Amino acid sequence: MLYDLVFRSVFRRMDPELAHHLGMTAIRVLGSRPIAPVVRRFAAPDPRLETTALGRTFPTPFGVAAGFDKNAVGVRGVDALGFGHVEIGTVTAIPQPGNERPRLFRLVADRGLLNRMGFNNEGARAAARRIARLRRRGAVVGANIGKSRVVAVEDATADYVRSARALAPVADYLAVNVSSPNTPGLRGLQAVETLRPLLEAVRDASGGTPLLVKIAPDLPDDEVAAIAHLAVDLGLDGLIATNTTISRDGLATPQGEVERMGAGGVSGPPVKARSLEVLRLVREAAPDPSFCVISVGGVETGADVRERLDAGATLVQGYTGFIYRGPLWAREINRALAA
Ligand code: FNR
Repeated sequence: MLYDLVFRSVFRRMDPELAHHLGMTAIRVLGSRPIAPVVRRFAAPDPRLETTALGRTFPTPFGVAAGFDKNAVGVRGVDALGFGHVEIGTVTAIPQPGNERPRLFRLVADRGLLNRMGFNNEGARAAARRIARLRRRGAVVGANIGKSRVVAVEDATADYVRSARALAPVADYLAVNVSSPNTPGLRGLQAVETLRPLLEAVRDASGGTPLLVKIAPDLPDDEVAAIAHLAVDLGLDGLIATNTTISRDGLATPQGEVERMGAGGVSGPPVKARSLEVLRLVREAAPDPSFCVISVGGVETGADVRERLDAGATLVQGYTGFIYRGPLWAREINRALAA
């Protein structure tokens, strides 16, 4: 396909973060007023894919995972390309530059990525202003919130609450991210005794906007179940599984190359099997279908999305596949789902 050729000859030779910025610019153009209707006509999901969840109607169960559109600048374009929702962020209460570059790497042999972006973002209030300005019809917009780096882990709750207050009035749902491997101490917040007061406080600050929690694939099975039980117990609306993995097992990319890339979370096919397992564990612990489970990790094809839906996912997200498959990815998946 054309994108394969462009990817192999142009994007792959480019710094991955620069390629992402170029891609994002293209998406913004596709979402601009004169162009979006044309793109939409070509890529709109089949009406039979409409899915109701979190009190909203999603044009398709397939959406874009957090991290792709950190600052909510590409929502219209992503919507036009056929995604049913966009989870913007992770945003933090205090704007921050993220980690030093390079911080994004391709694992081409695995069709994967390794990143340690570190929540580079313009802050929750800037994102909230952008979401408020979108006069939305199509894609649903979720907002993923994380801890500001300069805030101590002990003070995390107040920091998350600030972001929740800024975004709850404008987002269709909020996702509490306690699973990024790239903010020191963040994943420690997944321990149930720490997580309970954090989620309670964010829930109380969210004023009825649906609230979900996003977890790591590296948690042991019993902790996955414990967090799912906690989420149900606290009256949360759902759970997102999973974030990237810190595991380097089973990679096709040569070990030396991976080691040179350094720390970070791996995404794409290397996280696929565990992501599916975690989905099954979550659904077993939270069987009520009104509890929204969003499955993410290693999804590439319509069959992969179908497999997640069959395993109990309410919605499915992807990120890494977008990089390797290109702008028609959502259209491809939606057509396969509708067939
Ligand atoms: C991510 N992901 C992510 N997740 C999150 O909750 N907040 C974030 O800011 C980011 N940032 C981010 C950056 C990059 C470059 C990547 C590749 C990923 C994780 C993402 O949302 C998803 O959970 C995983 O990537 C697994 O899905 P895929 O990529 O295998 O479809």
